[in-house]
Amino acid sequence: MSLRFWLAVGLVDLVTAANIFVSHYTGTVQSLTLKESGGGYTLVSNGSVNVGGQPSWMTYDRDTRTIYNTDETGFGSGILTAVSAAPGGGMSLSGKATGVMLGGVHSTLYGPGYLAVAHYQTSSITTYKLPLSSSLRVQETLTFRMNSPGKIPSRQDAPHPHSVFPDPTGNFLLSPDLGADQIRIYSINKSTGRLTACASYISQPGSGPRHGTFYGDNILYVGNELSNTVHKLSVTYPSGGCLKLGFQQSLTTIANNRTLPSGSKVGEVHTQDNFLYVSNRRDLSFPPNDSIASFSLDEMGNMKFQQITSSGGTYPRTFAINKAGDFIVIGDQTTANVVVAKRDPATGLIGAQVASMRIGSTGRPENDDGLSAVLWDD
Ligand SMILES: *[C@@H]1O[C@H](CO)[C@@H](O)[C@H](O)[C@H]1NC(C)=O
Ligand SMILES: *[C@@H]1O[C@H](CO)[C@@H](O)[C@H](O)[C@H]1NC(C)=O
Ligand SMILES: *[C@@H]1O[C@H](CO)[C@@H](O)[C@H](O)[C@H]1NC(C)=O
Ligand SMILES: *[C@@H]1O[C@H](CO)[C@@H](O)[C@H](O)[C@H]1NC(C)=O
Repeated sequence: MSLRFWLAVGLVDLVTAANIFVSHYTGTVQSLTLKESGGGYTLVSNGSVNVGGQPSWMTYDRDTRTIYNTDETGFGSGILTAVSAAPGGGMSLSGKATGVMLGGVHSTLYGPGYLAVAHYQTSSITTYKLPLSSSLRVQETLTFRMNSPGKIPSRQDAPHPHSVFPDPTGNFLLSPDLGADQIRIYSINKSTGRLTACASYISQPGSGPRHGTFYGDNILYVGNELSNTVHKLSVTYPSGGCLKLGFQQSLTTIANNRTLPSGSKVGEVHTQDNFLYVSNRRDLSFPPNDSIASFSLDEMGNMKFQQITSSGGTYPRTFAINKAGDFIVIGDQTTANVVVAKRDPATGLIGAQVASMRIGSTGRPENDDGLSAVLWDD
């Protein structure tokens, strides 16, 4: 039945209702619907599920509508969970593996058919062959060591892989390591999911690389948690079968290069069209709230500072821009609120905040509590 038919019979509200997934460190994953009526927007709850543990990150497989959740639990035993998001709203727990390594902070699908998890606390990357069920066992565990602490010993006492994601070819897996100031690079055997180490990209001492996002096939932007910078890196494939990164540009993520309060730390990075966005946690640019910074990208991918806007809460650990590019959703961790703001797809500018919703208990600064992640169901 076509959209035209449903419109004709009046069963489709032309006003789009969009769904947002949210995870909270107290163990829940939920779905919210953003609704418009009379020019105003509201967020309403549309299902939730208790997955347990301390969900720290959601990786969404849009084809199967499955959300994979890493667990940042630091004591005892960790879990990995899969949540099934029904197309009509509502969610259910579809898989739970126990006995997983502690301190999971990020994950990615790769292969296809495999899941990799970055473990901050235990200096490791683990991999799994899907599907996720109670009988899921780790396939590979890579654990890293350092001979001496890094430039910022309080944060760089040991390697701390903070994320893991494939390159645009799907042949390599990258993992920014905040503790070791490097980006680890692996070639993927697509039939077995096994990883073979390539030479790491070595970042500036004290930068603390956290997350990365590709722009086209040959540029990677990296958000550096400790130096509060974004780096533009070149991506090349020299002969010899490995991916190679090269430094090209570094910019501060703060307007007017102002001195940051202690404890400021970059959160997430994303690109949308010719724009790059970065979340700043505890930069207090809009006291008591933090910020989202944006950069315009020229045809060479060079970054130019564009705008800084309020995150509408504190510690914006994650954010996401919808496919149409007309909304941004921000997940403020310690104030535990989901903020939706308008975005102009042509100029890349973030506009008015149109909705905010408190989710579960608020967190305490520098703790693994509060709201952990947000993403669009689109
Ligand atoms: C939940 O989401 C579905 C899918 O978008 C939508 O059809 C339904 O109206 C939503 N329910 C509520 C209560 O908003
Ligand atoms: C992938 O692993 C399989 C099984 O060990 C092996 O036969 C194959 O040659 C590997 N592929 C590549 C590209 O190394
Ligand atoms: C920003 O401040 C840093 C440290 O004081 C300095 O090295 C850098 O040159 C400044 N950048 C700009 C664009 O002013
Ligand atoms: C900060 O965020 C809160 C919501 O957590 C909001 O009520 C308040 O207006 C915001 N203040 C500023 C200055 O952005």
